Amino acid sequence: MMKVRKAVIPAAGFGTRFLPATKVVPKELLPVVDKPTIQYIMEEVASSGIEEVILITGREKGSIEDHFDTSTELEEHLRKKKRMDLLRMVQRISEMVTLVSVRQKEPLGLGHAILCAKKVVGQEPFAVLLGDDLIDAERPCIRQMIDIYQKMDGALLAIQKVPKTETHLYGIIRGRRVSDRVYRVEEMVEKPKQGTAPSNLAIIGRYILPPQIFGILEKVSPDPRGEIQLTDGLRELSQRLPVFGYEFIGDRYDAGDKLGYLQANISLGLKHPELGPKLKRYLKELSGKS
Ligand code: G1P
Repeated sequence: MMKVRKAVIPAAGFGTRFLPATKVVPKELLPVVDKPTIQYIMEEVASSGIEEVILITGREKGSIEDHFDTSTELEEHLRKKKRMDLLRMVQRISEMVTLVSVRQKEPLGLGHAILCAKKVVGQEPFAVLLGDDLIDAERPCIRQMIDIYQKMDGALLAIQKVPKTETHLYGIIRGRRVSDRVYRVEEMVEKPKQGTAPSNLAIIGRYILPPQIFGILEKVSPDPRGEIQLTDGLRELSQRLPVFGYEFIGDRYDAGDKLGYLQANISLGLKHPELGPKLKRYLKELSGKS
């Protein structure tokens, strides 16, 4: 089994759900507590032993790359002010991973975004992490998945049970349980209409995919909105190679949704060493008032 050395992070979307906040600032740079959401994703990647990130970007997204680059003037300023703690923090961000970026020239869907990484990934299995899904876990979610993937062939998708009323927001699988937390995927559908989902097991934005997915995505037909869906490619892949779902251990926040974003801020804020106790007091005060 080949090592998973590369991760693809799609970051080309317009962030329309967060307008006007995202008119100028890419949604990936909106902070949760004190870090941009995409930094949580990079930290997950770096602490999972992945060496290279392929960022799929679009227009006006250059500031994401800047965030992970060295910042000579800022570093010089912090050095002069003797703020060595902040200097170290800023330097650590640029040392985290090797970053390669590829432009997605048209917004043609998640499947198409991943296809843009074909040349840079080459012939090896790779991870995909979607920036909207923040996962707070003791062992990073993608690390948990790499551990499971070592023992299998094919593809592995992160899954989580969601309420029946929310299945239309996700890719949904139907699977046969093969071991603890692992399902062999037998059916897959992208955002099924309410009441038609094959189960309540939703695909969450973490995948380990074999390079065969690229050839398949090249042939997938666009959906009615003109987008190439990764789920359609995965369904085709499952005809050739086994596809598994893994119910990861951890708390997941949908940072691509306004309520999910606020929940992430509150939950992670409560865990923050300096802010946590003060925020807890404030929330108590607030609930006393309501
Ligand atoms: C994407 C995938 C979907 C998956 C979801 C997880 O949808 O297409 O299968 O369930 O991510 O967050 P999106 O939310 O980007 O529309």
